[in-house]
Amino acid sequence: MITKAIIPAGGLGTRFLPATKTTPKEMLPLLDKPAIQYIVEEGIQSSIKTFIVVTGKNKSVIEDHFDTYPELENFLHARKKDDLIEGVNRIINTANFIYLRQREPLGLGHAIWTARHTIGKEHIAVFLPDDIIVGSTPCMAQLIQIALQEKCNVVAVQEVPIDQVQNYGVIGIRKQFSPNLFQIKELVEKPHPTDAPSNLAIIGRYVLSHNIFNALDEMKIGAGGEVQLTDAIQTLLLSGEKVFAYKIQGTRYDIGNPLGLLKANIDLAMRHPKYANDVIDYLTSLDRELLIMQGKVAMLKKSRISGAFKI
Ligand code: UTP
Repeated sequence: MITKAIIPAGGLGTRFLPATKTTPKEMLPLLDKPAIQYIVEEGIQSSIKTFIVVTGKNKSVIEDHFDTYPELENFLHARKKDDLIEGVNRIINTANFIYLRQREPLGLGHAIWTARHTIGKEHIAVFLPDDIIVGSTPCMAQLIQIALQEKCNVVAVQEVPIDQVQNYGVIGIRKQFSPNLFQIKELVEKPHPTDAPSNLAIIGRYVLSHNIFNALDEMKIGAGGEVQLTDAIQTLLLSGEKVFAYKIQGTRYDIGNPLGLLKANIDLAMRHPKYANDVIDYLTSLDRELLIMQGKVAMLKKSRISGAFKI
């Protein structure tokens, strides 16, 4: 059984500044829930019982979110609106939370290492809250199944256009077992497209053996002045551990930047029974406006050519 998950949430979220000066990136809303709630829900659906959340400065509202709030509950109860926070209360009653502080944001690898004392000789799940993955089977459940079956480490991967590989850790393949399952030969962090061993990019879900902490013990500050998790997984590989990659089934939203969060909000709203009609009407109205704008621009260009107007 794999029942513990680490959620690293100690980063500064600089791509969202100034919004993230005092509000954690993980608490920014995706429709009506903070991003981190989607992660915890995926974890619970994947049999995770304990979430170890690695936080940092200005992140205590994450703890408040996964806690009871009697005044609010009484207020909603009196108005028969308990359902508004039912989802989060279900989480509080189902899962355990451990919070640890990363003293300095020294990178993802360092955040994971911070949780070393909470894990025994077991495999752990790791969720990056920047990646929201939706689909019929929870993404982490897919990885856990492979990790238990093959007794190995597993990272989630996704095909990306080759000109985008430099934004990711990319895998080199030792062996392909099925259209979606690979054994990894090597990992290359942010390669140039001409040096990339594949276009299979690592995304934010992992199942790792406890030996990852020994590997992280050895790690020095790497690329970007941070301790890289990819480097530690490469060390696991070199020590002889099996690391598999699974091309996950589902849709992934990278919400680590404002445009990604906006796109995810639109996409999820279009699929949500409460918001779908209104958001589709709104987008259709924008579409008409866009056509009118395009028409105006075309007319302007034409009139310039014919010399009818001077602009
Ligand atoms: P990112 O690099 O995407 O997050 O890390 P960031 O540093 O917070 O954001 P930017 O780049 O400045 O906008 C991926 C995940 O790792 C966590 C982040 O919180 C995020 O969930 N992380 C990153 C840590 O927990 N500690 C760190 O030192 C760095």
